[in-house]
Amino acid sequence: MTQDELKQAVARAAIQYVVAGQIVGVGTGSTANFFIDELAKIKDKIPGAVASSEATAARLRSHGIKVLDLNEVTSMPVYIDGADEIDASGAMIKGGGAALTREKIVASVAEKFVCIADGSKLVNVLGKFPLPIEVIPMAQAVVARQLSLLGGEPKLRMKDGKPLLTDNGNVILDVHELEITNPVAMEAVMNNIVGVVTVGLFAKQGANVCLLGMADGVKTLT
Ligand code: 5RP
Repeated sequence: MTQDELKQAVARAAIQYVVAGQIVGVGTGSTANFFIDELAKIKDKIPGAVASSEATAARLRSHGIKVLDLNEVTSMPVYIDGADEIDASGAMIKGGGAALTREKIVASVAEKFVCIADGSKLVNVLGKFPLPIEVIPMAQAVVARQLSLLGGEPKLRMKDGKPLLTDNGNVILDVHELEITNPVAMEAVMNNIVGVVTVGLFAKQGANVCLLGMADGVKTLT
């Protein structure tokens, strides 16, 4: 099976976690896009969705799925999203698609985080994938210095020769060379750096369920 077929398989499997009559939180990225395509098939069963990025909102709308503002929503049973890395405890690195801040916000409102990923995303120790951190642009240099003191090598994410700007107008520092043996502690330390908006470590609130696409089928980690 190709990586895309594995992503499609977990996207299909995730539909069983959508609760009829309830709003669903939707993540960002290629796996989340496959999920949106599956969600479209049952769109009449849900009142709408909350999107974690402008790209996701556009894809949901293109399928005729109502997109709700998070400010109108007080609870949702489930948030479904991909990950760049996940460990056996459900801690994740996210933000490869630069949507980490809105992803963390929407996930914080959901009762359950269902992670959907192809099997290559499961790791023993987080950190091989550079850790994305969303930063206020004027704080980029000072935050980078602080991150270096933690042993990482921060690199400003670029696009078309310019710093990539998130949906929130901020920049992303991707931190290389980290071995994250205690993700909960690392998330707390990095969250405390002035100028950091969001750390792409989802450890304090990690995934409750992970659907992993493997060659021999979808495995469920809880
Ligand atoms: C976007 C994310 C994505 O969930 C993550 O990058 C995984 O993406 P993909 O499903 O394309 O592998 O965190 O900010």
